[in-house]
Amino acid sequence: MKILITGGAGFIGSNFVHYWVKNHPGDEIVVLDKLAYAGNSQNLEEVKNKIKFIKGDICDPTVVDEAVSGMDVVVHFAAESHVDRSILEPDEFVQTNIVGTHRLLKAALKHRVQRFHHVSTDEVFGQIPLESKEKWNEESPYNPRSPYSASKAASDHLVRAYFTTYGLPITISNCSNNFGPFHFPEKFIPLAITNLLEGKKIPIYKPGNQVRDWLYVDDHCEAIDLVLKKGRAGETYLVGADHREYTNMEVAKMILRLLDKGDEFLEIVGDRPGHDVKYAIDSSKIRNELGWAPKHGFEERLKTTVEWYRENTGWWQAVKSGEYLKYFEQNYQNR
Ligand code: NAD
Ligand code: DAU
Repeated sequence: MKILITGGAGFIGSNFVHYWVKNHPGDEIVVLDKLAYAGNSQNLEEVKNKIKFIKGDICDPTVVDEAVSGMDVVVHFAAESHVDRSILEPDEFVQTNIVGTHRLLKAALKHRVQRFHHVSTDEVFGQIPLESKEKWNEESPYNPRSPYSASKAASDHLVRAYFTTYGLPITISNCSNNFGPFHFPEKFIPLAITNLLEGKKIPIYKPGNQVRDWLYVDDHCEAIDLVLKKGRAGETYLVGADHREYTNMEVAKMILRLLDKGDEFLEIVGDRPGHDVKYAIDSSKIRNELGWAPKHGFEERLKTTVEWYRENTGWWQAVKSGEYLKYFEQNYQNR
């Protein structure tokens, strides 16, 4: 099989490329990635001889047409993915997440790909009140609240429209927060770990009682593999760990303990505008229909993730420089 993976040099995309090389050694793998700030060719170093890499923008119709031509399957990860950046500068989110997705859909239709899988997020559903026991499922209404989630919601609608209108065989997965190796250190867990390793504090958006549904990245990769194998065209699958609730403060304290640091390394800072207080997923559909279940526990994998950052200081130190420092100052200076 020939598989095109967009955004394969980013966090989840590169984990997926590693997963695919290991589990489907006979396949031809092509990665299309523009190497934006979160894309890093180092993430693919170990598998570079087993894939073809195209450095290009999903918004460029010529690049996209050439990349999609001859492919059996497209798995679409490429996106601007950080909520705080979408608040500071939304334009690129509209461009890549909406226009870029549309370019890929057009090419997928033209070249008659057998499956276009769109990797999306639970953030399209908005937020759940902290005291509520509600969990989202495939019927939950869309209610995105940040430029990032609004752009992902728009892309989901376009992907579905290409199924309904043109019969393009699509599937969508809306997943909860991932964590694991190669996670860009602007996101909460890798930021917390790398800050502590640098002797700095963990910034906690006020008041720290927000809740996320953390899923180890390999479990997400396996879910996508199953959707490609057994998922029905036109369907959406929600993917989440469904573990007990962990507040951001609890997660920060677990990371402090893993790195032998005290509470003086916590710093409460001003909140994110429009901060979604809670996400929670009911993943019964993918569990019952496709037999998926997460294999990795949150606390056990948090520990191995901390170890990964401890052992790969060169990787994150190189990333936490240049443009990153400018963004960091802009995002945290007035909080
Ligand atoms: P990431 O920011 O780490 O990686 C994004 C990748 O896309 C980078 O390699 C970047 O270079 C590439 N890219 C960006 N703009 C591009 C463009 N115009 N053309 C080509 N490549 C481009 O993101 P991630 O966290 O790995 O997320 C991957 C996908 O999964 C996204 O679609 C995101 O919405 C979705 N998702 C992420 C999470 C999460 O917790 N991180 C959860 C659910 C869904
Ligand atoms: O739910 C899936 C989504 O998860 C993905 O679609 C996004 O691409 C991904 O970035 C992630 O979004 P979040 O906004 O939930 O992730 P982030 O790591 O930025 O923040 C996690 C929680 O931690 C959130 O409640 C905000 C909080 N936070 C974050 C940062 C960066 C802090 O308290 N301090 C921080 O410095």
